Amino acid sequence: MPQLRLKKSWLILLTGAAVLVTGTLLQSTLRSDTAHSAGTEPAADSGEAIYEQHCLVCHAAEGQGAGKYPALVGEAARKGRLANYDKAYAFISRNMPQNNPGSLKDDEYKAVTKYLLGLNGIPTDLSDVANHWASKEILALFDKRVVDGYTENGKLLFKPDQFITRAEFIRYFVKAKEWYLTNETQSDLTDLPKAGDRVYILTAVENGLIEGYPDHTFRPKAAITRAEIAAILARSELLKPTGPAAFKDVSSGFWAEEAIAAVQQSQLFGGYEDGSFRPAQQITRAEAAAVIYRLTNPS
Ligand code: HEC
Repeated sequence: MPQLRLKKSWLILLTGAAVLVTGTLLQSTLRSDTAHSAGTEPAADSGEAIYEQHCLVCHAAEGQGAGKYPALVGEAARKGRLANYDKAYAFISRNMPQNNPGSLKDDEYKAVTKYLLGLNGIPTDLSDVANHWASKEILALFDKRVVDGYTENGKLLFKPDQFITRAEFIRYFVKAKEWYLTNETQSDLTDLPKAGDRVYILTAVENGLIEGYPDHTFRPKAAITRAEIAAILARSELLKPTGPAAFKDVSSGFWAEEAIAAVQQSQLFGGYEDGSFRPAQQITRAEAAAVIYRLTNPS
C-alpha cells in the first residue's frame, strides 16, 4: 500500500528529528553542566544567573521557549523590543516574568537587560569616558538613564567632547528633574521632531523652562549656548540675582544678564578665570553632564 509506505517514511523522518533534538538538548545540558562544575557558575546577582533562573523557564537557552515564546536572540529580537537598553528595560521590567510582574529588584532587571542585549551584540556600556575628566558625572547620570550614548560600529559612545544640542540638553535636563512628561502634543514651535525628543521639549515648555525663538522655531539640532543654559537653570531653580552679573562680556541689558548673575551667584554655573562668561559659547556633552550632575547632587 503506497499510502502506508509514505506514512512509514514520515515516521522515520520524525523519529530522526526527535533523536537529533534530544541529542542537541542533551549535549547542551552536558555542556552547561561541565561549565558549571569547572567553577564558572555566574554570580547569583549577575545578569546571566538571573536569566538562567527567571527567564529560561519560558525562553529556552537560545531564547526560543518551546516555540511558544518570542526568540530573545537573533535579528527579530535586535530589531524589536531588544533594540536598545531603554526599550528592553521598559519591557522586561514591566512585563517579565509574565506570570509575576515586578518580582525582581530594579538592579536585577538592569543586569538581565544588559546581559540579554549583550547576547544580541548590542553594547550597553559607554566605551569612551573611562579616562575623561567628567567620567564620574557622566557614568553616574548614565547609570540613572538620565544621559545616553550613540551606538556606532558595535560600540556605545558618549562623545563627551562634542557640543551638546538643544534637544539633547532638554532631554537630559527633563529626565534629571524627573518631571512627568506632558500629554500635550501640539505646539506653536514649527521645527520640533515628530517623535522622540518632542515630548521632552514640550514638557520643558509646559514647565516654563523654554519658549523657543521669536520666529517660532526651537532649532533642536543647534548647539545650546552658555547663556541659554544659564536661562534654563535660573528658571528651573527659580534663581534671582543678588546683584548685577560681574562679567566683562555680559553687558547690562543683555537678555540673559539676570539669569547669568543668578546662576553664578548660586554657584551652579560660573564663568572663566579671565572674568568672562562667554555667553555665546557652546558647551560640550561632558560639561553639560557636569552641570546636570551638580544640579541633582548638590554638595
Ligand atoms: C512565564 C513565562 C515567561 C517568563 C518567566 C519570561 N518570559 Fe519573556 N516572554 C514571555 C511571553 C509569553 C512573551 C510574549 C509577550 C508579548 O509579546 O507581549 C515574552 C516576551 C519577551 C520579550 C519580548 C521579545 C520580543 O521579541 O518581542 C522579552 C525581551 C522577554 N520576554 C524577556 C524576558 C526576560 C529577560 C525574562 C526573565 C527576567 C523573561 N522574559 C521571562 C514569557 C515569559
